[in-house]
Amino acid sequence: MQAFALPAHESTHEAPPDLSLATGHAQFDDDHDALMAASLELRVASDEAFDAGFAALHAHFADHFATEDELMATHDFASRECHLDEHAAVLRSFDEARQLLREGRREPARRMTAEIVNWLPGHIDALDRQLAKFLFHRRTGGAPVLLRR
Ligand SMILES: [Fe+2]
Ligand SMILES: [Fe+2]
Repeated sequence: MQAFALPAHESTHEAPPDLSLATGHAQFDDDHDALMAASLELRVASDEAFDAGFAALHAHFADHFATEDELMATHDFASRECHLDEHAAVLRSFDEARQLLREGRREPARRMTAEIVNWLPGHIDALDRQLAKFLFHRRTGGAPVLLRR
């Protein structure tokens, strides 16, 4: 039995983790960079450091998702359902993996941490960018210009 399941489009993002996946929304981008950095760091954490780090990562993702969820609700973002569902699925996976951690099984949480590193860029690319673009358009009437280095 699989202990958790990240949303389905995780495997469709073939590119390696890309920290330059900017959305043009400063708060999203700062959060995404911090979430990716924390996930990468946790992936190689010792067992002693892992459990607290996984709990902190869970809290960080929950905060970030709450910010996006609230913006989608506040601005009545039309295509929010699948975005909300995806956030909820990840948080359920965290809950399940943390329950197993409490039972002494660290491997599912380790596996989930590795999968997050692959899943997050696809989520940003498919859903967060769309939200950032919508919010920018709401604010300015135009589309954000993304500069890449
Ligand atoms: Fe999101
Ligand atoms: Fe996000």
